[in-house]
Amino acid sequence: MEACPTLETERLIMRPFRDDDTDAYFRVLNTAQVRESLHLPETLDRSDAWQQMAWFLGQWMLRGTGHWALEERSTGDFLGRAGLHHPERPDWPGVEVGWVLHPEYWGRGYATEAGAEAIRYAFEDLDLEQVYSCILPENRQSQAVAQRLGMELLEERVMAYFPLAAHGIWLRTR
Ligand SMILES: CC(C)(COP(=O)(O)OP(=O)(O)OC[C@H]1O[C@@H](n2cnc3c(N)ncnc32)[C@H](O)[C@@H]1OP(=O)(O)O)[C@@H](O)C(=O)NCCC(=O)NCCS
Repeated sequence: MEACPTLETERLIMRPFRDDDTDAYFRVLNTAQVRESLHLPETLDRSDAWQQMAWFLGQWMLRGTGHWALEERSTGDFLGRAGLHHPERPDWPGVEVGWVLHPEYWGRGYATEAGAEAIRYAFEDLDLEQVYSCILPENRQSQAVAQRLGMELLEERVMAYFPLAAHGIWLRTR
């Protein structure tokens, strides 16, 4: 049985990562815009993209949460990822809803569409009471997605995994 379900929204397929996504996923991470927004290290390469995919698939197996690979239904294009992230970090707020798209696909509402489906899955299928989002204060585009999804800024704090800056912690309750 697949731990990561395949879901469909109006314009997207949300499916488990596959081994042959590595190049397409690295193309997403390896854009200047995504590198800057996520503060990715310069050394991040194709093998790191593969490791991230394996990390998310492993999280689905271990915890029933993870990110989905996103495909555009009309074209089959690989767009990026979105989903529910619950890493083993002592000061992580809980299950985080998040989104990363190739810049070519920004400005179409795809992150909000995938985020809404991830939140629906969290509340209806996982029976969670709340989801969080951890967003750097300068990341206005990601904050706008959170706001469109009915999330509210709870607090700003520094987390151990990223000691250089405080993250905004956004909350949406069921
Ligand atoms: C954060 C990120 C996913 C946001 O992407 P986005 O395209 O701005 O967000 P959405 O998919 O919700 O699209 C919203 C935009 O699409 C527009 N849009 C166009 N057609 C639309 C449609 N049919 N339905 C909804 N919105 C539509 C909206 O008006 C809005 O435009 P605006 O930004 O000019 O206001 C993207 O910037 C990204 O991948 N950044 C790098 C990674 C990152 O920072 N991730 C978050 C870490 S916390």
